[in-house]
Amino acid sequence: MPRLVRLDATGPIEIPPQPESVWVCGCGLSRNLPLCDGSHKKCEKMEPDSAKVYVYDHDRKRVVEERDA
Ligand code: FES
Repeated sequence: MPRLVRLDATGPIEIPPQPESVWVCGCGLSRNLPLCDGSHKKCEKMEPDSAKVYVYDHDRKRVVEERDA
């Protein structure tokens, strides 16, 4: 089933304290959910406060559409 999920975060969420930091994906693009895999770098050019909705392809590799929210 296709699904469009609105996510506003553009980076990971840190879970302290741990012997080492654990980073949970906040952008929804990780291919290793719930952990961040660095895919949030694709969000760098997005405007966090804009009303745009970015629609990604199935593999979360690229934006296929930008919609007004
Ligand atoms: S926050 Fe989603 S991949 Fe890093």
